[in-house]
Amino acid sequence: MKVHVANHPLISHKLTHLRDKGTDSPTFRRLVEELVTLLAYEATRDVRTTEVTVETPVTQTTGLIMAQPRPVVVPILRAGLGMLEGMTKLLPTAEVGFLGMVRDETTLQASTYANRLPEDLAGRQCFVLDPMLATGGTLVAAFNFLIERGATEITAICILAAPEGIDVLEKAFTNSNIPITIVTGALDEKLNEHGYIVPGLGDAGDRLYGVV
Ligand code: URA
Repeated sequence: MKVHVANHPLISHKLTHLRDKGTDSPTFRRLVEELVTLLAYEATRDVRTTEVTVETPVTQTTGLIMAQPRPVVVPILRAGLGMLEGMTKLLPTAEVGFLGMVRDETTLQASTYANRLPEDLAGRQCFVLDPMLATGGTLVAAFNFLIERGATEITAICILAAPEGIDVLEKAFTNSNIPITIVTGALDEKLNEHGYIVPGLGDAGDRLYGVV
């Protein structure tokens, strides 16, 4: 498994405002969108391409376009939905599937409550959107779900990650022959006793959409 911590002053700047508890929901949503577009640029470095011929006004040449089948973008509901716009800005032709996962706040175990994904993901590159890689439970369940359907490459884009969650993923997929990559805006210090990332930014879903 590869872990890529984006190291860029613009990402740090936006993340600092995102962490600020005084940042309101509309600003938070805009910052998440902007951050995801920057992280998606890193995450799509190995997106598959195919060579084509193109006529410029001057001559004929060859270029690269994204290969078929197109990648599948999978936001994890609810908070991953706030990342979708930033991702599709960069990959407008990707297909979008949805995975609803909820974690039990006592046991911190993740379970699937909804999915809208192709039955067959054979040969597909999947980009999973989940803002907070905390215990790792949600992503382990989500990756297993995609692997069972045949996904051949999985990249998760997270705004923040905790070392504990990275360890859980490393252990869960150490023998997997599927390339797995985590792209995150920052690797924070730790998880607290409630499973929140420290220093973190609080509950990403609540900050995006309010407490419902
Ligand atoms: N989910 C969140 O929204 N925030 C955390 O800190 C951890 C999990």
